[in-house]
Amino acid sequence: MSDDTHKGTTRRGFLGTAAAAGGAVVGAATAARAAGPDPLITEVQDWASSFGDPVDATPYGMPIRFESHVVRRNVEWLTESPVSSINFTPIHALEGTITPQGCAFERHHSGAIELSKADYRLMINGLVDKPLVFTYEDLMRFPRASTTAFCECAANGGMEWGGAQLEGCQFTQGMIHNMEYIGVPLRLLLEEAGVQPEGTWIYVEGADASSNGRSIPMEKAMDDVLVAFYANGEALRKEHGYPVRLVVPGWEGNMWVKWLRRVGVYHAAVESREETSKYTDLMADGTARKWTWVMDAKSVITSPSPQAPIRHGKGPLVITGLAWSGHGKIARVDVSLDGGVNWQEARLTGDVKSKALTRFHLDIDWDGSEMILQSRAIDETGYVQPTKDELREIRGLNNVYHNNGIQTWWVREDGEVENVEVG
Ligand code: MTE
Ligand code: CO
Repeated sequence: MSDDTHKGTTRRGFLGTAAAAGGAVVGAATAARAAGPDPLITEVQDWASSFGDPVDATPYGMPIRFESHVVRRNVEWLTESPVSSINFTPIHALEGTITPQGCAFERHHSGAIELSKADYRLMINGLVDKPLVFTYEDLMRFPRASTTAFCECAANGGMEWGGAQLEGCQFTQGMIHNMEYIGVPLRLLLEEAGVQPEGTWIYVEGADASSNGRSIPMEKAMDDVLVAFYANGEALRKEHGYPVRLVVPGWEGNMWVKWLRRVGVYHAAVESREETSKYTDLMADGTARKWTWVMDAKSVITSPSPQAPIRHGKGPLVITGLAWSGHGKIARVDVSLDGGVNWQEARLTGDVKSKALTRFHLDIDWDGSEMILQSRAIDETGYVQPTKDELREIRGLNNVYHNNGIQTWWVREDGEVENVEVG
């Protein structure tokens, strides 16, 4: 179940042969190869003897065709209809921390709607001095702020509670994306309307048929919640809530209301709605653990992984992955090659931002023997990502939400990788 770039594999295979023919030896400590006879170096290639595309060939560019396997995928048996469903970010094939919008997972309860800026309205009502309605143009006149944040569906990893099931981190951890947002702090809009002292909760709704209504405590609403209209430098995509969505850093994805149409201010959480009570964690004794909004620290090795096996054989190997915490910054990521017996600290690569994805790398010299790969995130509060068994001991098996257990990949000698659990 591995993704291959058609051309890439052939080319790598070919280079390998050429290098071997030229007598080059790949040393254990380096991934470079000695120069040898190689037509890709010595011959003039097609792409160097004719013109490429003109500048206006694609006014809005798509990835080159060799990258066409880097796409969102869904799991068909998961939901009855693709309209109320979810697909998954190809995290096994991405690097860095920013998720391009075009391959960022989507979760809709009643499909992605098309709402124009001209038809867009946002209402603030309830326990406020002045109920207000904003057009898109009105929102554009408020001071803006920027936030880079991960959005993780509370159900991410939900299929793995009972045991290792799906072959690839795209499916086991891919209900997550991380974008740089620009928008208006919700606080500014609430201040404009004048929140009354009894207003301790907001209830937010979207313009789609499901409305996806959610209650959020006023403290969070006044803290870092953004009414966002740009992501990764451009307008939000339709499937992520164009033209306006709520960004609720560190909190579960269902609160990130898309196509935001109303913010009601109330004295209590609106609990009568089926949607609000749905996102609770069912415990072993039948009780529900609720209001588990913050996403606890978690990590996953994205490569090697079942969809990104090792193709180059033993020697230098880059192990990389993602870590995140809804409680703040990632402080450290440990990697184990032997199923959690020994751990070594990975490098955190690039800026470490609070409530955002953090990239880690560990460079090893792989001797070609099998590995039981794991990563373990530790956040700035000192919280350590638990094993799946530790989680099950506390929450049982009835649960679907908030699975932040340690992921295990079994790397075989041939470089293929499988999703497993260690006892
Ligand atoms: N907002 C509306 N209006 N309708 C929805 O169905 N789904 C929620 C949330 N906001 C939803 C919504 C859920 S469960 C998640 S996980 C996130 O949106 C997913 O955001 P995305 O589709 O941009 O990935
Ligand atoms: Co969700």
